[in-house]
Amino acid sequence: MDNLITIQRAQPAPPCTVVIFGASGDLAKRKLIPSLYNLVACGEGMMPAKSAVVGFARREMSIDEFRKSAHDWTVRFSRLKVDEACWAKFADSLDYLSGLDHPEGFVKLKAKLEAIEKARGIPPNRVYYLAIPPEAIGDSVKRLTEAGLIYKPDAPHFSRVVVEKPIGHDLPSALEVNRTLVKYLDESQIFRIDHYLGKETVQNLLVLRFSNNIFERLWGARNVDHVQITVAEAEGVGSRAMYYDHSGALRDMVQNHILQVLTMLTMEAPVSLDSAAIRDAKLNVLRTLRPITPADARTNTVRARYSAGVDEEGKPAPGYLDEQGIADNSRTETYVALKTYVDNWRWSGVPFFIRTGKRMKRRASSIYVQFKDVPQILFNRDSKIPANGLMIRIQPDEGFSFDVMTKRPGLDLVLSPVRMNLSYNTTFGSGASPEGYERLLLDVMDGDHTLFISAQFVEKSWEFVQGILDSWKDGARVPLVEYPAGGWGPKEADELIRLAGRVWHEP
Ligand code: BG6
Repeated sequence: MDNLITIQRAQPAPPCTVVIFGASGDLAKRKLIPSLYNLVACGEGMMPAKSAVVGFARREMSIDEFRKSAHDWTVRFSRLKVDEACWAKFADSLDYLSGLDHPEGFVKLKAKLEAIEKARGIPPNRVYYLAIPPEAIGDSVKRLTEAGLIYKPDAPHFSRVVVEKPIGHDLPSALEVNRTLVKYLDESQIFRIDHYLGKETVQNLLVLRFSNNIFERLWGARNVDHVQITVAEAEGVGSRAMYYDHSGALRDMVQNHILQVLTMLTMEAPVSLDSAAIRDAKLNVLRTLRPITPADARTNTVRARYSAGVDEEGKPAPGYLDEQGIADNSRTETYVALKTYVDNWRWSGVPFFIRTGKRMKRRASSIYVQFKDVPQILFNRDSKIPANGLMIRIQPDEGFSFDVMTKRPGLDLVLSPVRMNLSYNTTFGSGASPEGYERLLLDVMDGDHTLFISAQFVEKSWEFVQGILDSWKDGARVPLVEYPAGGWGPKEADELIRLAGRVWHEP
């Protein structure tokens, strides 16, 4: 392709050891191990072959068992097809240790890391990836420090800690997690991850907005009627009942992924591409996000859970309460819809409609920016013509489309809406987009914080979400309603947007 403008080239990571805490958990299986495989020399070539990966968990497992499981997970979930010769090299870098739940386990971890580094001839650079429940974070960071596994920030080698969501369960617990982290670590050593920031289309929001004059000039209250953000999942709660039933859609998706997308979409131009500048610009949006209060929660929020219906293939799917591991008296929401505003100069008065849910019609995440109507003269005088809309598809068919009006060819003057479409797969080839975790793991190894969350962002986003949680506490104020599995959510969400004079656009 001609006219490529390279702003930054991904650099191969320095040799290091990645320790995955919670190595037999869902995240390690589905995302971390397959992503690391994709980064090794025979995949994207971004992780030196000498680097090592150590699984660290509670239960006993032999190294061979761990390697065999890792192989199965990678075959099942990897973006790149597994090449057995490459796998053999990667498998050689995999090791395993139990003892995550005891302080002595950390002493053993230290000895293991030193032995690996010596055998492989690599410097003691370390990434500790905490894929563990939030209540276990404090103990792990403390034990890492006590075992001498955390260096001073200015040491010649690095020790970095990646913290997965959920960071806290509410505002007070999130503040507590942040306090614990900074007690033992320097901020430069902490990487709070949100895998939505690793998605191509989310990163592309910056490029779309700030390298195309046409969009940025239209971006704001003067020209935008409203914005919709939809993150729909076809899957139900699956095997994660234990976590999910204590979390729900608001904590699981809105507090992190959706607020990240919203801030990338609406922030002012950062003063540079520097990570601190981008983080500041995003934080400023959160500072102006209009809080939801008990007084307006009923008009501005909907909470719902799926009832029995169908899955994506049209086969019968159970309701949430009939899923394995869900408490009979559960009041957890699997769907949330919100209306909010970004109360700053640029976005004043523009409603933002957000919705996310499990067991919806299909997996589709998108942002829809609807522009204002043209004046009610000429073509718009007697019949209403549809407004222009920009649909940014985050997944699965990444790309964007722009709805415009045009004249249908012929002797009659007939207006027709048409869609200009860019599909990543068609333009750049399918499989070109790395998995979000690949990008983010590489950034941790490179020490680049741009796509990671600051402590302030975590706190501000929880402040917004806490307002909603508090408003929902009295169950009668915003009742938990139901929607059949396999649809686009509850009728109450249609009502929420209808009362604001708009309709949902299919994502
Ligand atoms: C996770 C949530 O953070 O994101 C899950 O805990 C959700 O409940 C997942 O399914 C969605 O991620 P993706 O990349 O499939 O959109």
